[in-house]
Amino acid sequence: MGPTILAIESSCDETSASIVRDGKVLNNVISTQSVHEIYGGVVPELASRAHQKTIVPVVRHCLETAGIGTQDLNAIAFTKGPGLLGSLLVGASFAKSMAFSLGIPLIGVHHMKAHILAHFIEKPIPQFPFLCLTVSGGHTQLVVVHSPLEMKVIGQTKDDAIGEAFDKCAKMLGFSYPGGPMIDKHSRGGISDRFTFPSTDIPDFDFSFSGIKTGFLYFLRNMEKESEDFIESNKADLCASIQRHLVNMVIEKLVNAANKMGIKEIGIAGGVAANSRLRSEVERLGSEYDWNVYIPKFEYCTDNAGMIAMAAHFQYEQQIFESPEVVPDARLVF
Ligand code: KG4
Ligand code: ZN
Repeated sequence: MGPTILAIESSCDETSASIVRDGKVLNNVISTQSVHEIYGGVVPELASRAHQKTIVPVVRHCLETAGIGTQDLNAIAFTKGPGLLGSLLVGASFAKSMAFSLGIPLIGVHHMKAHILAHFIEKPIPQFPFLCLTVSGGHTQLVVVHSPLEMKVIGQTKDDAIGEAFDKCAKMLGFSYPGGPMIDKHSRGGISDRFTFPSTDIPDFDFSFSGIKTGFLYFLRNMEKESEDFIESNKADLCASIQRHLVNMVIEKLVNAANKMGIKEIGIAGGVAANSRLRSEVERLGSEYDWNVYIPKFEYCTDNAGMIAMAAHFQYEQQIFESPEVVPDARLVF
């Protein structure tokens, strides 16, 4: 029997715990904080307080539902970064205390690498090397994955992340946080090429989303000058059009990168991988370019400890452990 590891994720606004045993993720308990809804974004201070409140019940529930006692654990894993420092500190301190009291190793996991390793939780799994487009609320990256522990970022956003662009545009349309899923939902039945927006040219495989955010704001302001209820009466078309624009921005780079690198194993990961248009576009391109496309199940796309557990499993195999002095890093490099 391989190792049994408890993993904790607390980098942003989800408190989550998961058990991996012998490389198999047994469960994935997630508590999503609703306190941020009315603020239009995650409020760091409120996020760390909510983690502090829920971490014990979440871990207890995780152990109980997996039928695992603390004496069965071989290591404790936690998200080391990147993320909100106050939030990361809650998970890290909890993991450190637990590892210390049980006398077992501590594993620090990189949140973005874990999003990619979510592809190994369930079959089919990608063959190496594969190209992963990681799209979340904090990051937008194109990564060539050579092995579970060897990855190279070949492109990333120069400013905002795509999820942030989704959320900010959604806020302009009157949706509460997180607005990305609302744009997705309300775009159903909308005409996606009804409105077009200017795009910014960014070289190579990098991305930029700050221009479209401002562009969308000015576009709405101008249209509302002509008709006060412009947003309300065109909501589905607006959602479908901005969604199409944002998705095209990442798809274009994904195709260029796949062609240039000559890789046909393609994955998408991160919260925005839950977007229905992105999923269907990647599937469509898969048939066009003869790619094998991999998209993790929804619960493993948005922030979750299952992916931290999977990454921890690979690190445990190589005995990559943290010292008890470890501190999380909000800007942990790849
Ligand atoms: O990976 P994630 O849960 O957290 C970060 O690490 O950032 O990603 C959250 C992001 C949010 O911006 C949210 O609006 C976006 O993922 N998101 C979506 C959808 N579901 C989640 N964006 C567009 N369409 C969706 N269906
Ligand atoms: Zn994430």
